[in-house]
Amino acid sequence: MLEVKDLLKRYGDRTVLHHLNFSVEKGEVVGFLGPNGAGKTTTMRILTGFLPPTSGEVHIAGYDLQSKPIEVKRRIGYLPEQPPLYMDMTVKGYLRFISKLKGIRGDSLADRIDWAMQKCGLQEVQKRVIANLSKGFRQRVGLAQAILNEPELLILDEPTVGLDPRQIREIRSLIKELAGEHTVILSTHILSEVSMTCEKVMIINEGRLIKQGNIEEVTAGRSLEEVFIGLISQDETNVQ
Ligand SMILES: Nc1ncnc2c1ncn2[C@@H]1O[C@H](COP(=O)(O)OP(=O)(O)O)[C@@H](O)[C@H]1O
Ligand SMILES: [Mg+2]
Repeated sequence: MLEVKDLLKRYGDRTVLHHLNFSVEKGEVVGFLGPNGAGKTTTMRILTGFLPPTSGEVHIAGYDLQSKPIEVKRRIGYLPEQPPLYMDMTVKGYLRFISKLKGIRGDSLADRIDWAMQKCGLQEVQKRVIANLSKGFRQRVGLAQAILNEPELLILDEPTVGLDPRQIREIRSLIKELAGEHTVILSTHILSEVSMTCEKVMIINEGRLIKQGNIEEVTAGRSLEEVFIGLISQDETNVQ
């Protein structure tokens, strides 16, 4: 479904992603785990075609991102760190607007919007203005816009940041539900998020992928926290 080869990103003379290689199979739910500043958002912006890599290749659903960006974008849904919500639109008005941007037209339009609102539990707030919604509901609107085009691959950047514990639980269960039908990559700096929602984990630190695999393989009986702290501090020792 997704294949990344030798991905490198420099900002000026600073390299923030060092030769990333990974692949994600159809139906997998992968946690992209790393401390703040590790390079998660940069990677996700590259995968979604919002930011060009310095070098390397990205293939999604068999299409090369560089030569077939439209084919790729049609197949992905992206929830950025800051969802691009228009605060003065109603929920339904906003989803209609995004549908048009995504090229969803005709008879299927209204059905698709209703389906996304129903999936994300937005029906009772569909006529409300986004500015007046809680952060948890705004995040649901962000998820709804990401799934409108029924993407094969969902890319979610820190989907629970800034939510309260109840909202976190709701968004996690929503992601689990979506995971049944989509391939999902979600980034987080929260360890428990990975163990609760994902089957696979990729650990990134300072722009380098330092571990990836099934959670049971990676943890091998230990806690993910122990493994993570161990890897990060070992990484720091290596750099010094
Ligand atoms: N536009 C930019 N110009 C220069 N450096 C950037 C830019 N965007 C991000 N960075 C740097 O790249 C590194 C990775 O950032 P980011 O991908 O946002 O990490 P994460 O999402 O894991 O917190 C950080 O050191 C950050 O300061
Ligand atoms: Mg980030």
